[in-house]
Amino acid sequence: MASSRDSNPTVGRGKARPASLPGLPSQLPSEHLLRLLGRIARECGSRAFLVGGPVRDMLLGLPLGTDIDIAVEKNPGRVGRAVARHFGARFVFHRRFLSGTVSLIDSARIDINQTRTEIYSRPAVLPEVKPVPVEDDLVRRDFTVNALALDISPRTFGNLLDPHSGRLDLARRIIRVLHPNSFTDDPTRSFRAIRFAVRLGFEIEPDTLSLMRRSIRNRLPARLSPERILYELRLICAEPLVLRMMEAVLKERLLQVCFGWQVPQTLLPGLQKLASSSATPDSIYVYLLSFLPMTARFPIAKLERAAAEAVRDFAGVRNRLARARRPSTVYRLLKPLPEPALRILSRTESASVARAVRLYLERLSRVRTSVTGSRLRGLGLRPGPAYRRVLERVLEAKLDNRVTTAAEEMALARRLVKQGQGRG
Ligand code: CTP
Repeated sequence: MASSRDSNPTVGRGKARPASLPGLPSQLPSEHLLRLLGRIARECGSRAFLVGGPVRDMLLGLPLGTDIDIAVEKNPGRVGRAVARHFGARFVFHRRFLSGTVSLIDSARIDINQTRTEIYSRPAVLPEVKPVPVEDDLVRRDFTVNALALDISPRTFGNLLDPHSGRLDLARRIIRVLHPNSFTDDPTRSFRAIRFAVRLGFEIEPDTLSLMRRSIRNRLPARLSPERILYELRLICAEPLVLRMMEAVLKERLLQVCFGWQVPQTLLPGLQKLASSSATPDSIYVYLLSFLPMTARFPIAKLERAAAEAVRDFAGVRNRLARARRPSTVYRLLKPLPEPALRILSRTESASVARAVRLYLERLSRVRTSVTGSRLRGLGLRPGPAYRRVLERVLEAKLDNRVTTAAEEMALARRLVKQGQGRG
């Protein structure tokens, strides 16, 4: 009912007043590009602003990512189409959210959004949006350090809009919400507060921390859809300081509340091993999934789900693997597991099990026999299940070094065929 803008009084809210930026920092995403975007927007009848993360990072002197977030006060669809035309790129526009994306080469993106207010009908649901001037758009944002806008319109290029003292909070190194309802409107902001605080080495400001903890105590994050929770977790998994972030997420009981779940003891040690062995963000995410109470409602790609399930259900294989003496046994036990799961297990398991998994990945899984189906046909074996059995037996013998040459492989195949088509 209440928009984030009209709701409660804000924490330390200032007045919108453009402040000139003394000399644009060199990290500015190509000034030429921003001026061009500002000009195109002007031609489409709108002022334009660089907003969100890029402005924050630019003021901190941090390197900027490849995504540029532009807010326009009018005609986002027209601006987006004109930008896409200029670059010969694609533009996808979501009318309901008045936002669109121009996709450039090298997966760089320019997001073009209508400056808007967001109206939350209930906590934790996605908001309805309504066009407003830029100053009102900044009010709906999550934290003061993300509520900055850099004017890129031709005549006012370089003016910084900082109505919520974001620049001061950057200097004080704090993460602060704009108003007390922030975590109620959008409980994903608890994940975001932790992610930005850890990434930037900032503190969550005390009042903000109390509001965040109250929203967690009141179980508001539990109202989020699995999709929105997993989106936040994926972002965390892509961060260099993922371990520290996950420690904070678990300490604040965020995931416990989201999923009504207890933290398994092995989760953090495993994450630590993955993070310190430069595992990919996807591996870390799948590992995390393997601990969560996954249901059919979890929007997870098939391969990721299969990998997470294999990691989750590894206990049985682990016991048999610990007793395995022959390479062919290791092969048989690990062959059914998806490779992404094996890559994870090779880093998270104890030394001896991890060694067996690496042996499989690096050597056993690559072994091929020279006996082929057509050569078996040459031995008079008719196509059918026996084919596979003979080939498996020959492969096992090769893995265990019982046959080493192509001639020995063929001799073994011949013997197996004779002894009753490999059933033996
Ligand atoms: N935003 C918000 N509330 C959210 C998500 C986003 O207010 N739940 C606003 C913030 O102003 C944020 C901007 O939308 O800066 C863009 O969001 P996003 O791309 O997720 O964040 P960035 O700040 O760009 O962070 P990152 O550096 O991780 O890309």
